[in-house]
Amino acid sequence: MSNERDYMLGTHDEEVARLGVQHRVWRDRVLDGWQRAGIGPGQTVVDLGSGPGFATMDLADVVNHTGRVLAIERSRRFLDVLEAERDRRRLTHISIHEADLDEIDELPVSDADALWCRWVLAFVRRPQPLVTKCVSSLRPGGVAVFHEYLNYATWRLIPPVKSFDDFVPVIRETWREEGGEPDIAAVLPHWLEQAGMDIVSLRPYVDVVSPGDALWEWPQTFVHSSLDRLVALGRLEAGRAQTIRQDFMAHAASPGARLVTPIVLEIIARKR
Ligand SMILES: C[S@@+](CC[C@H](N)C(=O)[O-])C[C@H]1O[C@@H](n2cnc3c(N)ncnc32)[C@H](O)[C@@H]1O
Repeated sequence: MSNERDYMLGTHDEEVARLGVQHRVWRDRVLDGWQRAGIGPGQTVVDLGSGPGFATMDLADVVNHTGRVLAIERSRRFLDVLEAERDRRRLTHISIHEADLDEIDELPVSDADALWCRWVLAFVRRPQPLVTKCVSSLRPGGVAVFHEYLNYATWRLIPPVKSFDDFVPVIRETWREEGGEPDIAAVLPHWLEQAGMDIVSLRPYVDVVSPGDALWEWPQTFVHSSLDRLVALGRLEAGRAQTIRQDFMAHAASPGARLVTPIVLEIIARKR
């Protein structure tokens, strides 16, 4: 696909599946955040950086056919997945907008009731101007809900495993070299206030999980796909990736294995 635009983690089938797992384990918290923000039937909602549309489908349910969801995404491959599912479910109130968020002058709406954005501002090259565009897409009183990392370095195995402790900084460095900022939530509340929003709620999500917990699946799938990806990008030597993979699997199989997740900040803000 000649016009395909990858982001750091790729847009291949395995990444679509990983995003599906990720959405499934985070879904309850996402629905809860939307409810606390007042997102509901009849509203117009932007899904910024929708990916293949797992959250888009839930937003379409929440606003129902009396509302509207605008999915904005750069990857044609992800949008093809979203479009097929939208058509299969006859969700005609989802509109699809193929756009590079670093390039567009404005979002395709100026009176939205809400905007949802998860793990996207951390990947774009110019997040602060994009935040201003997000605010402009909302009506006064409109809400924005973000789930972004606050401090990716909290991601650790306990008891600690050396190869893994050395691996997390490689992810963070690669991310930054690709133009993103993993810990974007550390600056986001301030940028939102500067752009004309009031912070309604700040809620950190960090968990200590065991291999039997549903949430374990999220970092586990990320370890495997990111190792492959970092080797393919030439950022990690194949032998080292293999060691990290084996150490992670041995850790998961050992008694008392636990993992601390990378801390995510949920931000709910309302336009003045
Ligand atoms: C980690 S995924 C999250 C997808 C979705 N928000 C979710 O939570 O499942 C990051 C998404 O941001 C998109 N993205 C990254 N940079 C982008 C850009 N400059 N313009 C538009 N989309 C971008 C990627 O293509 C990918 O779909």
